[in-house]
Amino acid sequence: MDLSKHAFFEGKIVPLADAKINIATHGFLYGTAVFGGMRAYWNEEKKRLFVFRPYDHFRRVLNSGRMMAMEIPYDEESLIQLTLDILRMDDWKQDVYLRPTIYKADMGIGVRLHDLRDEFCMFIMAFEKYVKNDTNAHVTFSSWRRIDDNAIPARGKIAGAYANSALIKTDANRAGFDEALVLDQNGHVSEGSAMNIFMVRDDVLITPPVTDNILEGITRRSIIELARNELGLQVVERSIDRTEVFIAEEMFMTGTAAQVVAVTKIDHRPVGRGEMGPITTKLRTLFDDVVRAKVPKYQNWNVEVG
Ligand SMILES: Cc1ncc(COP(=O)(O)O)c(C=O)c1O
Repeated sequence: MDLSKHAFFEGKIVPLADAKINIATHGFLYGTAVFGGMRAYWNEEKKRLFVFRPYDHFRRVLNSGRMMAMEIPYDEESLIQLTLDILRMDDWKQDVYLRPTIYKADMGIGVRLHDLRDEFCMFIMAFEKYVKNDTNAHVTFSSWRRIDDNAIPARGKIAGAYANSALIKTDANRAGFDEALVLDQNGHVSEGSAMNIFMVRDDVLITPPVTDNILEGITRRSIIELARNELGLQVVERSIDRTEVFIAEEMFMTGTAAQVVAVTKIDHRPVGRGEMGPITTKLRTLFDDVVRAKVPKYQNWNVEVG
């Protein structure tokens, strides 16, 4: 794995090798950490790196922290500045993935959220594809249910909750599938292991609402806006029943790591014609141009690493 040379740790930028936590740290023992996952994209023509929607990503990190009774002395703007500092220091010339984390930093036993010190840290890594078959993914329905908001905040990126995602991903991969669709406690299709989902029915783009135990994805939000504004599509946020996906014309998954993954088969049934559909194709191309700062209209989403 191609990791950054530097990291942000305990209030300053340090060599990654020095960014170490003790095995007795609360966040490690109990999963009491929240994190973000964002990308910076290399634009070959401009020879520049652009971070995609960092304000929104840090806002979600801070909101996840709020749900977990965490406080750190940074706001979105100061987090963006320190992100740019680390990126400049390592002089990346390729797509990278950034992993900011807030964690309960005290040492010792005692499961709770209160009366514990919070720390912020971040490292960066080179990153290409997350789902290999991203133009023709074959997915299954997971036998696991998506975490419920009344058990662990589903709209937050809580480290401990990713045991749920790990169970989903490994069982799907070991059964020979690229990914899985996960039902919530009400039996509605919620998302994938670490990505939001969309389906096309009768030329309408449909995605589960933020009240169906999804993570409020920033890629999801971007795709909704691009579909409405650039493709003129009707986009509806509503619950999706399990069998609806079998009769969808198209399906795709979205996420910072996954980007836009075309789902062409679900439990051995072809989606539409069994190949990436026209709406998915257009949105994939447009999204890639937008994240690389090639579309002037959306350049307020791109923060240049100057
Ligand atoms: C559980 C889960 N759902 C959805 C997403 C997609 O969110 P985003 O587009 O903000 O990366 C992610 C990735 O962050 C995730 O971990």
